[in-house]
Parts: sequence; structure tokens; C-alpha cells
Amino acid sequence: MGSREPFCWIILFCLVLSCFLVQTHGKTKEQGLFLPYKSTLKPHSGVDTRPFYASLLEGLQRLNGTNVHIPQEGSKEKDKIGRLPGQPPVKFSQYGGYVTVADKAAGRAFFYYLVEADHPAKKTLPLLLWLNGGPGCSSMAYGAMQELGPFRVRSDGKTLFRNRYAWNHVANVLFLESPAGVGYSYSNTSSDYSKNGDRRTAADNYVFLVNWLDRFPEYKNRSFYISGESYAGHYVPQLAHTILHFNQKANKTIVNLKGIIIGNAVINDETDERGMYDFFATHALISDRDASQIQKYCDFSPNASNQTSECSTASGAANRDISNLDIYNIYAPLCSSSNLTAKPKKASILNFDPCSDYYVYAYMNRPDVQEALHANVTKLSHDWQPCSDIIEVWTDAPSTIIPLLQEFMANGLRVWVFSGDTDGRVPVTSTKYSLNKMKLPVKTKWHPWYLRGEVGGYTEVYKGDITLTTVRGAGHQVPSFQPARALSLIKHFLAGTPLPDTSKY
Ligand SMILES: *[C@@H]1O[C@H](CO)[C@@H](O)[C@H](O)[C@H]1NC(C)=O
Ligand SMILES: *[C@@H]1O[C@H](CO)[C@@H](O)[C@H](O)[C@H]1NC(C)=O
Ligand SMILES: *[C@@H]1O[C@H](CO)[C@@H](O)[C@H](O)[C@H]1NC(C)=O
Ligand SMILES: *[C@@H]1O[C@H](CO)[C@@H](O)[C@H](O)[C@H]1NC(C)=O
Ligand SMILES: *[C@@H]1O[C@H](CO)[C@@H](O)[C@H](O)[C@H]1NC(C)=O
Ligand SMILES: *[C@@H]1O[C@H](CO)[C@@H](O)[C@H](O)[C@H]1NC(C)=O
Ligand SMILES: *[C@@H]1O[C@H](CO)[C@@H](O)[C@H](O)[C@H]1NC(C)=O
Ligand SMILES: *[C@@H]1O[C@H](CO)[C@@H](O)[C@H](O)[C@H]1NC(C)=O
Repeated sequence: MGSREPFCWIILFCLVLSCFLVQTHGKTKEQGLFLPYKSTLKPHSGVDTRPFYASLLEGLQRLNGTNVHIPQEGSKEKDKIGRLPGQPPVKFSQYGGYVTVADKAAGRAFFYYLVEADHPAKKTLPLLLWLNGGPGCSSMAYGAMQELGPFRVRSDGKTLFRNRYAWNHVANVLFLESPAGVGYSYSNTSSDYSKNGDRRTAADNYVFLVNWLDRFPEYKNRSFYISGESYAGHYVPQLAHTILHFNQKANKTIVNLKGIIIGNAVINDETDERGMYDFFATHALISDRDASQIQKYCDFSPNASNQTSECSTASGAANRDISNLDIYNIYAPLCSSSNLTAKPKKASILNFDPCSDYYVYAYMNRPDVQEALHANVTKLSHDWQPCSDIIEVWTDAPSTIIPLLQEFMANGLRVWVFSGDTDGRVPVTSTKYSLNKMKLPVKTKWHPWYLRGEVGGYTEVYKGDITLTTVRGAGHQVPSFQPARALSLIKHFLAGTPLPDTSKY
């Protein structure tokens, strides 16, 4: 089915092939780690890598206040989910449906899934938006069904079990499939699928949010946070920037944004790439000689076009060395069979099943599931995929989002950057190098943080305020691999309290 992509494709500048790449997990084993993306995606031929400020403004020009609110077909009542097929009973409410993000002429609609808080104080708990990356990967596939959502899919592909570490213990959680072409989100204008990029995604996400709040007005005044992982390291700051832009323009709070949190996030291409090879070397995956050749001979700058033969040789050897690992969690087992099982295997939240992508694929493509979710109402011609095959072009991607993080600090937003420390794709070394680029003074020195007497990870807080935190023993999808630590992390983030520096916690 070609759909086993554990997080998404990530656009990455690949030294060996020097092409825009898409990272797909399932294909990893069959075709090697670095898959060249479709030939239309070349990084230095037409992809707009200007800083986001410059390029975003063009995207926002079509949003002038009068055309942000779009006539909608959906309603809160119609979107209420009775019960998902195979779902255990729960006390919280769920909603799913479409929000139209572009007028009838274009016909773009984004699918959302709201999981209200499993908490008596749900009416005052914050609203937390979650975005997966890719670009092209679905927040239903990963966030909702394999990471922080209330349920996980069993190996039969049709029944669900509870995730006792779901983030809706501390927030009302909104999952969004974005942009058009991802998951159930679609456009009636098929050429839209080749016009996706960071700019349009930010604008459409903003239109989604404003119209979603019209449908759920009880959340309009609620504290709002945006979270995400991987390529959502672009989406989350860009949406936050868009919100600030329109709040400032209107001189009032249209969206009550309080902070953002991003994990194993694409932040700054140059340091992200450099840090990846350093992680491989310091985790004994590649040779020291190849590592030092790569650092010496490869050009990691955003405009690099040609690499030296020394660089190509060393990075080629490095890529071979890692090609049979799950690069998203270097110590994890691989999935050995994509088959569903007639009887569900014994499942545990604490022991992530590496074949989960297949179970989720089967579940999300069931007609009864789609009906319960109010998804795929227009009977799309393609199947639901964890990471989209429909999106073949990505038009713009700045090489860094650091200026946006600086903007948020200046505007008093809470910013947390976390990293699962066994991810090799956007590893902790990359995140540290990227944050170091900002040369921020330290407010709270590096220290372990604890959960139930064990080290949950390490954290450092910078003046500004930015919190960096690692999650020990977690791969790229942190809540999949360390659900309790991830829940503790989000709880502290939302409460605005520092991670505990005592093993008594
Ligand atoms: C806003 O944009 C719409 C459509 O692009 C246009 O018709 C309208 O005149 C614009 N309004 C303002 C105030 O710029
Ligand atoms: C897309 O087209 C279908 C079929 O005409 C229609 O029912 C649907 O409302 C359209 N979607 C949007 C967002 O306009
Ligand atoms: C929004 O929340 C603030 C502070 O919590 C409160 O003072 C204000 O009255 C609320 N506004 C509305 C419209 O509910
Ligand atoms: C913005 O709103 C505040 C009060 O909410 C007001 O004092 C201020 O003059 C306004 N600024 C502009 C530029 O309209
Ligand atoms: C990369 O290219 C862009 C546009 O051609 C240019 O504005 C920018 O300064 C260049 N960056 C570097 C690091 O050379
Ligand atoms: C890169 O290599 C191509 C072909 O070998 C050459 O035409 C081009 O000038 C080189 N570019 C740079 C920036 O060195
Ligand atoms: C998976 O299913 C296929 C087709 O039904 C079958 O041929 C294969 O043996 C199965 N693999 C495993 C590991 O059960
Ligand atoms: C939508 O429904 C059609 C018809 O049932 C199905 O063939 C298609 O795979 C579905 N697509 C998605 C994205 O759910």
C-alpha cells in the first residue's frame, strides 16, 4: 500500500543526492533511507527559500479581513461523533468534520478531529492544536492515533484501546489534517495539490482556525496553544506568526494565542543537517572518519549547490550505515509483518508496536470509520494515507524559522522546544545547534528533570523565554515512545511551570 510512513516525509536537503527528499519509513527498508522525491521537487530550482517574512506577506495579502470568514456547510451539532467503530466507552466528547478554507471557486476543506478534555474542568482547560509535519503527513495518522490521542488502533485494524497518557487529560485537543491533500483534507481544484507550500499552509491553517472558532465559539476566549513535531517546526511558528499579524492588525485578540511547543522540529536547515551527522557519529552509527570528512567537506549552507566528491563519498557511506535502522528511533525494533491479525495482539501503551502504521491505515480507510468521523463526505478518488502521495510539489520553504522564534520572545509567547533523544532524523544535536544559533543567555542551567524518581530528560531555560527539553528514550514521535514523560512535559508546558529539578517528583 506504500503508506507506512511513521511521521511524514520531511523535506530535507540530502547531501548525497542533492535533492529535496521525502522521508518515508515503509519505503525505507525496501529502497534505502534517502528517497529522492519526485523530480519536480528540486531544492534549488524554483523553490522559494526566502525568509518567511518576505514570502509570507504575499500569502497573507489575499486575507484582508473580509475574506477570512468563509461560508460553511458544517455545524457543531452535525460534527458531534457518537462513537467510533471499535471504541471503548468514554466520558469526553469528540467532534469531527470539515471546515471550508477557500471559497466555492477553489473548494478547499480541511478535516479536523476535536477531543474534548477528559476532565471536570474542561470548560476552562486550554485549547491545544496539534500538527504533524512531512510535509504531507496526517495529524490523524500520527498525533491522534499513534501519539497523544485518546485511542490506539489494535493489530486487527478495527478495534481501539485507550491511551491513558492522552493529552486530553490536560487540554482540549484539536487535530488538523493540513494542507489540502493530506489525509481527508482535500481541494475540489486538483491543481491546488501542486500549489502547496509553507506560505499557503500558514494562510489556510489560519482561515481554518478562525472559521473553526466560529463553529465552536466557547473556545474563542480560551487560552490557545499550538504544538507539533518534525516539519511542523515550520507550520507551528508560521501559524503563530500569522495569528500575531492579524491580532496586531486588528488591534484586538482574534485568536488568544499564548504559546507554542515543537518537538524534533525542523528549525534551521544548516544546523539540522550538521547535527544529524554528528548524532550518527556520537551514537556509533557511522565511522569517526566519515563524520569528520562530512563536517570538513560538505557544504551545509542554504544555498549550497555542488558538493565535493569527498563529501559525497563520506555521506554515501554514512547513509549506507544507517539504511537498515529505524532512523526515527535508532534503538527501536522494525516492523516484521504488515499483515493485520484476525485476533488483536496483546497491546500496551508502554510498548509501542512498530507496525502501528498498518493498523491505522486499515482503520482510517474503513467506510464505517469515515462515516463516524464525518470524513470523506465527497468520496475522494484517492485513499486515506498517513503521508500523502497526492502532494507532489512543495513550492516554498524558508531555510530557517529562527526569526519567528525571536519574534515570539519579543511578544511574550511561551516557547518550548523538545527533543526525543533517540531520534536520528531531527536529533537532539540538531536542536541544540539550532537554538545555539540564537546565542541566548541562560536563565536556568542544564539539569535533569524527573518523573516518578527517574530522569525524564534534561532541560535548559534561556532568557527570553525559551525552554529546551529532551525526553529520554523517545524517538521522533515522542508520545509514541515515552507517553508518560510526554504527558508530564505538556502538563508543565500548559501550566507554565518549570520541569521538576528533583528526583522526589
Ligand atoms: C479583500 O479581498 C477580496 C478578495 O480578494 C477583495 O474582493 C476585496 O476588495 C478586498 N478588500 C479590501 C478591503 O482590500
Ligand atoms: C467540493 O465538491 C463537492 C461536490 O460538488 C461539494 O459537495 C463540496 O461541498 C465541495 N467542497 C467545497 C469545500 O467546496
Ligand atoms: C475572556 O476571558 C477574560 C479573562 O479570562 C475575561 O475577562 C473576559 O470577560 C472573557 N471574555 C469573554 C467574551 O468571555
Ligand atoms: C488599540 O486598542 C487600545 C485599547 O484596546 C487603544 O488604547 C489603542 O488606541 C488602539 N490602537 C490603535 C492604533 O487603534
Ligand atoms: C542565498 O540565496 C538568496 C537568494 O538568492 C540570498 O538572498 C541569500 O543571501 C543567500 N544566502 C547565503 C547564505 O548565501
Ligand atoms: C556546480 O556544478 C555545475 C556542473 O558541474 C556547474 O555548471 C556549476 O557552475 C557549479 N556551481 C557552483 C556554484 O559551483
Ligand atoms: C501476510 O499475508 C500474506 C497474504 O495473505 C501471506 O502470504 C503472508 O504469509 C503473511 N505474512 C505473515 C508474516 O503472516
Ligand atoms: C473516500 O471514499 C471513497 C469511496 O468510498 C474511497 O474509495 C476512498 O478511498 C476514500 N478516500 C479517503 C481519503 O478517505
